Order: sequence, then structure tokens, then C-alpha cells
Amino acid sequence: MFKRILLKLSGEALQGSLGFGIDPKVMQSMAQEIKEVTEMGIQVALVIGGGNIFRGLAASTQGMDRSSADYMGMLATTLNSLALQDALEKLEVPTRVQSAIAMAELCEPYIRRKAIRHLEKGRIVIFAGGTGNPYFTTDTAAGLRAMEVHADAIFKATKVDGVYDADPIKNPKAKLFTKLSYKEVLNKDLKVMDRTAISLCMDNNMPIYVFNMTKPGNVKKILSGEKIGTVVQE
Ligand code: GTP
Repeated sequence: MFKRILLKLSGEALQGSLGFGIDPKVMQSMAQEIKEVTEMGIQVALVIGGGNIFRGLAASTQGMDRSSADYMGMLATTLNSLALQDALEKLEVPTRVQSAIAMAELCEPYIRRKAIRHLEKGRIVIFAGGTGNPYFTTDTAAGLRAMEVHADAIFKATKVDGVYDADPIKNPKAKLFTKLSYKEVLNKDLKVMDRTAISLCMDNNMPIYVFNMTKPGNVKKILSGEKIGTVVQE
């Protein structure tokens, strides 16, 4: 059913218990999990956030120009992408990083057709630098890249089991949705992804699987047809 997926990882998850930066143990276990997905014969593209290093939006509320803050956030995603590439290659998974912002000494520039060839050859492609534009989140970058490389779905990693009607960490009675339409997400203002990302997925009918990345094996379970987490689709 799935041939190619775009996996969206949260930068914050990488910090583990450190509270900042990259916890090597978390990075290794994520890389292992991703490796197992590729071993199922699934082509994997990755987008990772940068919140463990820098949050553009937070900095802009403290007075920094939003564009400058967002550019710093894009650099943070590149740091995470390079770290993830290293962790994957330690596990002998061939990986290419492509950045939306040219950094030729560090990684390839984003070239859509080349990204697709890499995927076809079984390489993981990590898309760094967001969309390359301020005011867009890495969730929007994930939506955009998923569309561009014709992924079958976006797999959005979170630290809870899926999408709830209230914050499950604050409210133990929060109810987990198994299925949602894009319109429901927008109308109920559910925090799946930001509105730009959701609208983009809605207009192009890109399914979003929201799942818990802190429990190992979840991506593989969804790929094998198990109904866990929340799926957002038409
Ligand atoms: P094919 O040969 O087309 O299958 O792909 P390939 O990625 O193996 O070939 P290429 O010769 O394009 O790249 C070889 C290595 O150089 C890979 O690790 C790429 O990630 C890296 N590379 C390619 N272009 C750039 C670039 O502009 N900057 C940086 N830093 N690395 C690059």
C-alpha cells in the first residue's frame, strides 16, 4: 500500500531528557527505527524540526524580527539533519541531505528530481532548511516536499499517541481521535500541524498519519496496516 513516505520528526524529541540540543541515545534509537522502515522496502524522505536548538516563533515574540528568527530556525533544522545523517550512516543506511538554503560545503542543494532519484535508489533523503522561506514551519516544508516527491503519506511523529480533543498531558480524560478530516482539524483548531500545512495537505489530498514516536515500532505497525494513532484524510 505504501511505497514512499515522508516522515516528519520533531526537533524537540531529539533533546530527550537533556532539555536542549541532541541526546545521542535518542538520535541512535530514532535512526534504528528509520532503518527498520527502509528494510521493509519503503522509500523514506525525512524532515526534521529545529525546536531543540532554536524556536523562531518564540524568539520573534521576544522582539526579534520574525524573518531573522525563522532563518535561524532553518539553520537549526540543518544541524539536526546533519546529525541524523551521521546517525543513519553509522547504521550503514545511505543518506543524502538536501537543503532549501544553499550550503554547498555541507550538503546538496534541494533539487527535486535528484531527490526522487536518491529515493528510487533506496537512499534516505533528509530535507533540511524548511521551505527556505521565513513564516513557514517545518510542517509546511514536510507537506510541500511530500507533494513534490509524490509520497503516499506524511507520517508525523509526536510524543503522544495521536490527536486528542484536549491536551492528553494536562487532561487524562482527553479522547483520542482515530480518524479526522482536514476540515475537522481546521474547524476544531486541533494541533496536528499549523493551518498552512493542513490546508496544503487538504488541497492535495495528502494523508497524515500522526503517531507516537516514543514507542518503538509504531511506523512499521502503521505501514503493516495496524490502526494506531490518528489518520487525517478526506
Ligand atoms: P548518483 O551518483 O546520482 O546516484 O548520486 P550520488 O549522490 O551518489 O552522486 P553525487 O556524485 O551527486 O554525490 C556524491 C556525494 O557527494 C554524495 O554524498 C552527495 O551527498 C555529495 N554531494 C553532491 N552534491 C553536493 C553538494 O552540492 N554539496 C555537498 N556538500 N555534497 C554534495
